[in-house]
This record gives sequence, structure tokens and C-alpha cells, in this order.
Amino acid sequence: MDQIRITGGGPLKGTIAISGAKNAALPLMCACLLSEGTLRLGNIPHLADISTAVHLLAQLGVTVTMNGDGQTAKDADGHAGRVLSLTAGQIASTTADYELVRKMRASVLVLGPLLAREHEARVSLPGGCAIGTRPVDIHLGALEELGAEIELEDGYVVARAPGGLRGGVVRFPQVSVGATENLLMAASLAKGETVLENAAREPEITDLANCLIAMGAEIEGLGSDRLVIQGKPTLNGADYSVMPDRIETGTYMAAAALTGGDLTLTGTTTSTLGAVVEAMERTGVEINDDGNGRVRVWRNGARLKGTDVTTLPFPAFPTDMQAQFMAIMATAEGASLITETIFENRFMHVPELTRMGADITINGNAALVRGVDRLKGAPVMATDLRASVSLVLAGLAAEGETVVSRVYHLDRGYERLVEKLAACGADIERIRE
Ligand code: UD1
Repeated sequence: MDQIRITGGGPLKGTIAISGAKNAALPLMCACLLSEGTLRLGNIPHLADISTAVHLLAQLGVTVTMNGDGQTAKDADGHAGRVLSLTAGQIASTTADYELVRKMRASVLVLGPLLAREHEARVSLPGGCAIGTRPVDIHLGALEELGAEIELEDGYVVARAPGGLRGGVVRFPQVSVGATENLLMAASLAKGETVLENAAREPEITDLANCLIAMGAEIEGLGSDRLVIQGKPTLNGADYSVMPDRIETGTYMAAAALTGGDLTLTGTTTSTLGAVVEAMERTGVEINDDGNGRVRVWRNGARLKGTDVTTLPFPAFPTDMQAQFMAIMATAEGASLITETIFENRFMHVPELTRMGADITINGNAALVRGVDRLKGAPVMATDLRASVSLVLAGLAAEGETVVSRVYHLDRGYERLVEKLAACGADIERIRE
């Protein structure tokens, strides 16, 4: 398996083009199942999870074509972003197999669209994953409110809606990004009005809603926790561009902070970052968003200050930035308390950061980080995407060599990570095996 070798030290300086958001692209791709027309999606990142979604959609009968390879046709700021054309003229199968759902939990997002259009779907249960049990009960309960009949058979969710889904009032018992997305898609083709209460407000949901609107859906309440959808008998194709990746943006902001560097991130914005900007500023990081796609992040010599963060649904601090923020706090002045309320097992980077010299104590869902002067390079590995990238960040600032194993986690969510960092002066390389 490939590894990444980093020799830490120097500040990162330069410009990094931010890719399209993985977590927006995946639901947008599933939205193609709602229409016979072609959905053309621009700014698609080049990632393993996108390939998994392409395979899954192809199995369901979607014709997929791709233009641009993410390396060519760059604009002045170096943006490439591929265009995917997805046409679900006819659905060939309504089954999402275990093999693909197991690889990527977001596969469960085909459930709502298949059920709405074909009135039936058979989708494997995703099972557990490294960061917790992550059940789909909220998705299923909400679809039942729209008239779906659901059974669990041999590890599969078997859902039927004889005569089609009908609108209804759904009050989510807990905020769930994926369940809100599944329901938004399902309700767009249901009969009558659907009201989603306690909906997730993540920017990726607004991105999906805007794409559905471009496909002919009628949705009100964008950006709020109450979405009202008037179902349509059919939706059409559309052209839509995926939003910039806010977690990738935050991750490179963390790289500038940790290394005392000065990075300009292009094709992105801080407006979708919620509490991340405020938390970074509290530590002493300087951030300037020109409102025109360029975000500059820098630190002026002084040591960063420790600050507390708690992960919660948007617009509060995102769980997907928790590990990266902990890497910053590892060398900040004083102590910081990092509380994780979204996933129960999301501190797997802690023992690895500790091996690099960090001083971190876990107590239940909180981690107390006491900043040390300097981290020291070490061989490390992690079991999920964001944990892995936090170790890369720590390695960039550490003294000596860090080797990060299980690089396939990073390939799921960070496009050309090594190349982007190396272009800003990082001493980093991928060791292929
Ligand atoms: C999405 C993101 C993921 C991010 C997470 C929280 C994608 C592809 N992934 O994941 O990167 O970390 O939002 O911002 O967009 N839950 C249940 N039952 C359910 C559904 C969820 O108990 O039916 C729980 C989960 O276990 C978790 C919490 O609710 O503890 C939030 O999960 P959810 O918002 O659904 O996350 P995902 O959509 O899976």
C-alpha cells in the first residue's frame, strides 16, 4: 500500500486551487436518477469516492461520460474540475449492492431517488464504519412518512411505494445531512407538498436544493431547518456546477496555520465555513476573503493560542474539521478542549498525534489538548479520511520525518494532496508500492 513521506519544517507559501466538494458532488450525482434527462455536473473532483459513485450509478443503468481529467483545461487560477454527464434514461436495476455501499456509505443516497421514480429500491445496509455505527434509521423513518413500506431482508433495505410516494410532514428526530438529502430528492418527485422540519442546513444541502430547482423542482426555505417541497410528476436534466469544498478549504487553512505559512486558496469562499473561520481567528490566524474566490490565510510569526471547539451541525464547527483543528492545537499555547458530539468514535488520530509528541487526554467525547513546543516526526496511520489528513498536517510542522500509511483514505477525499502541498514548498512525496 502507498505511503506519504513528509519532512516537516518550513512554512508553506503559495497558491492552492480548491476542488469541487466531495460531499456535494455525491448527492448531486444521485439526483440524476430523478430524471430521464441529462444532468451535467461541472467542478467534479477527481477522487476515489466519485469513481465508486460512478460505478454504482452505472450498475443502476445510468450512462456516464466524463470530460477533462482534472489535470488539463485549467483556468487562470489552475482550476480544472471535470464535467460529468449523467443520463438515467431508463433505470436498469433498483438494487445497490453491498460491495459498493460497503465501500462508501453515501451510496445510501440512491434510496430516495429510486423509490420516488421507480416506486421500489433495494439498498444494502452500510454497516458500521471506523468512526461509529452510523445507522440509517432516520432515512428510513422519514421515507415511511412519505408512504414507503420498508423491510429489512438479508442485510438489505427493501423499500416499496405502490402508487408512488406522497407528500407529508417529516420532523427529523436528529439532524442528519444524508437523511435530509435523501428526503429532499424523494419529495421532489412525490405527490403533493412535503415539509421537512429539523432539516440539516449544511451548505451541501443548499447546493443539492439549487440543483434540484434547476431540474424543475420547487423548494422553499433554502439554508433554513424547514424545507418545503412541492412534488412534481417529472424533473428535467440540467447543467450545474458543484460548490467548492469547504473542508478542503479549511484543511489548507490549517496547513498555513500550523506551518506559519501564507497560502492563497482560489476558487473558494469562507462563507460556507461556518464557525471554522471564527475558531481559526481566535487562535491568531489571519484570514482575508476577497469575496471573489480568493482566500488568503497567514500567520505572522507569533505562536498560536489554544481555543475550545465543539462539533455540532452547521453553522457550528464541523466534525469533518475536528481532527485538523486538533493538529493545530497540538502546538498552540495553553490548553484547548475539543468536544465531538456528532460521531462517537472520532478520536482515532489522538494516539497517532500522541506518538508525534502531542499531549492529549481523552475523557468521553472530549479531548483536552495541552500545546507542546514542537511535534516530532514518526511513522503513523489512521483509519479515516479526516484523521489521515490531520497526520499529514502535523507532519508538515513536525521536526524530522513522518510516514503516513493507509493513504487510500486520503484518496477518497483530497484531490492531488501531495502535489498541491509540494507546490507550496512542502517536502512531501508519495511512495508507491
Ligand atoms: C455527512 C458527511 C460526513 C459528515 C457528516 C456530518 C457526506 C457524504 N458525508 O455524513 O462527511 O461527517 O455528514 O456532518 O456528506 N445518524 C443516525 N441515523 C441515521 C443517520 C444518521 O443515527 O439514519 C447519526 C449518525 O450516526 C451521526 C449523526 O446522525 O452520529 C449525523 O450523521 P449524518 O448527518 O447523517 O452524516 P452523514 O450524512 O452520514
